[in-house]
Amino acid sequence: MSKKHLDKVISLCKRKGFVFPNSEIYGGLKASYDYGPLGVDLKKSISDKWWNEMTRNVNIVGLDSSIMVHPNVWEASGHIASFNDPMTDNKDNKKRYRIDDLLSQQKSKVIDRLCNIMSIKNNGNGNTIDKISNILLSKSDQFNDALESAGVVDPFSGSIGKWTAATQFNLMFKTSAGPSEKTGKSIYLRPETAQGIYINYLLVQNAMRLKIPFGIAQIGKAFRNEIVARNFIFRTREFEQMEMQYFVHPSEDDKNMTFWKEKRINFYTSELGISQENLKFHQHSEDALAHYAKDAFDIEYNFPFGWGEVEGIHNRTDFDLKEHEKLSGKNMMYFDQIKNEKYHPYIIETSTGLNRLFLMVLCEAYFEDEANNRTVLKLPFDLAPNKAVICPLLKKDGLPEKAHNIFDMISIHHKCLYDEQGSIGKRYYRQDEAGTAFGITIDHESLENDTVTIRERDSMKQHRISSDRILKFISENKI
Ligand code: GAP
Repeated sequence: MSKKHLDKVISLCKRKGFVFPNSEIYGGLKASYDYGPLGVDLKKSISDKWWNEMTRNVNIVGLDSSIMVHPNVWEASGHIASFNDPMTDNKDNKKRYRIDDLLSQQKSKVIDRLCNIMSIKNNGNGNTIDKISNILLSKSDQFNDALESAGVVDPFSGSIGKWTAATQFNLMFKTSAGPSEKTGKSIYLRPETAQGIYINYLLVQNAMRLKIPFGIAQIGKAFRNEIVARNFIFRTREFEQMEMQYFVHPSEDDKNMTFWKEKRINFYTSELGISQENLKFHQHSEDALAHYAKDAFDIEYNFPFGWGEVEGIHNRTDFDLKEHEKLSGKNMMYFDQIKNEKYHPYIIETSTGLNRLFLMVLCEAYFEDEANNRTVLKLPFDLAPNKAVICPLLKKDGLPEKAHNIFDMISIHHKCLYDEQGSIGKRYYRQDEAGTAFGITIDHESLENDTVTIRERDSMKQHRISSDRILKFISENKI
């Protein structure tokens, strides 16, 4: 799928009511989107799949912790000190860039020159860019002019920029709680849902009498003041995370990393209908690891704009629990009664963004059926916002009444639509674009012998069946 196709997906999202630009009547708010009627249903189906996948395990339970927590949580977790993006400004036009993003848009000879200046090897991948960004940050005095000397071009102006030294930009949104900004405490909107799980983990473990290994799953909003927000809903400032923290014995971390990597990639193919060749793992190099991680893998999807991370699987060790213990003074150890052993569990984290999965599912499903001059969203049946559209052939002769009866019968089991506007072909094509799995038409023959025509979205095959067989047909033919 090309960039052109991403534009088409964006336009379909608006036209069919999946995703709308936010605050459009005021000219829009950058990197903010609202989910329309079909969008909320698709988003909910994806998050339900994830929730069921996680919490139907015997040893994984759910949690819904607050977005705002005690500010010390972010002190302990290292987010106040280290949750930064390295950035630089072009002194000429005052444009600000995240350094890794700026470098990813440069020609390879520019990256080669930077590697020469810093005496590092160019591996020709994202890890080299991460390495350069980190060196620029940690030794900004030494490499003050490196970007300019290497000829880094400003993608906006197209000419070599006059770049400021690399600086840190903290990604957390800060506000204050209480009636006065002066006396109120600084509060941060959470940049990840994970910390809410860590600070509650012993309460959850006690309440549910859990034994290691066990997991705590959570779905909720997270906020990051992203410098570069683009590619539609791929990177936004407000988004939803689906995170599961798996607490294991420290000696079992590697084994559990392998287990969860495998389990998570299978989820994409078996539950979300993503093809294997559009998925891959990317292991973080040591330089690119987050401040809390010992080992990390991203699951990446082949988006129209290139490979992009959809999920992170991290070995966070006992970093977070120990840091919370230090700052709060509260014991964060797990007690194994059988072995009479006390320890800080290691945490294997699986962390994904619901909005990115949503975009991935749409990109995968989008199909231009040139032979039939139509656009089809080939969504898996479970994810399709509507499972069937019920259409009386005409708006008269008792056909609408019969169609309403059929609608009432099917909608007890499946979400469906009723549509009597326009030609039957147009009605089908409208629903093909929205991913509706089946089209059911009621005509004059239906009144005589209680049959309907049922049409499959992807193959466009039509079948005449008795109306009491519709549900069975759907369950046997759903994709
Ligand atoms: N708790 C670990 C953590 O937050 P992360 O790799 O920073 O790890 C996990 O984020 C996932 O959250 C990403 O794989 C992505 O799907 C999603 N995500 C992160 N930042 C995002 C953003 N600005 N917009 C949309 N989704 C985002």
